[in-house]
Amino acid sequence: MHPDVDHILISASDLNARVQALGDAITAAAGAVDELLLVGVLKGSVLFMADLIRAIDRPVAIDFIAVSSYGASTASSGVVRLIKDLDSDISGRHVVLVEDIVDSGLTLSYVVDLLKRRKPASVAVCALLNKPERREADINLDYVGFDIPNEFVVGYGLDYAERYRNLPYIGVLKPSVYGC
Ligand code: IMP
Ligand code: MG
Repeated sequence: MHPDVDHILISASDLNARVQALGDAITAAAGAVDELLLVGVLKGSVLFMADLIRAIDRPVAIDFIAVSSYGASTASSGVVRLIKDLDSDISGRHVVLVEDIVDSGLTLSYVVDLLKRRKPASVAVCALLNKPERREADINLDYVGFDIPNEFVVGYGLDYAERYRNLPYIGVLKPSVYGC
């Protein structure tokens, strides 16, 4: 285990099993839809996205959007800024928004509103992790990997100050690392 990690919250094998189940659920819900467009929110969702698309047994296209996040802080500022827009036109398409973690929900609600204004046929939200205790925005999550307690986690794409994304598990960061 990484020395900055206090304990492992979700092991690599538990992540693998749950991502497969999410892929199965997305596949089942897609029915006869020609193609899904999975939109990942950069950068935290990239590892999840890579595994999730391999667990979906339907044609999928992918695209990415980037919005401002916490920087090197562990609390949301509440101010969301678009950094990189989608490459593709989403009107009339079936979009699945893929997010690493939903905390206050402010990031996700900004992105969902942005996408809905472009008249997609549907928008579903798939979040690997959900911290329900800290929710401020009223948002609907269609697919959730794991509900987790209000602790700062890293690994499997999630970072603190751009570090720890390459850990194969989700771990709770030692508070001493971010100065508490
Ligand atoms: P929200 O806007 O408060 O829901 O924050 C969502 C974003 O904050 C996520 O997409 C992550 O980038 C980041 N975030 C929230 N909680 C954590 C955490 O525990 N570890 C790493 N990043 C987090
Ligand atoms: Mg994120």
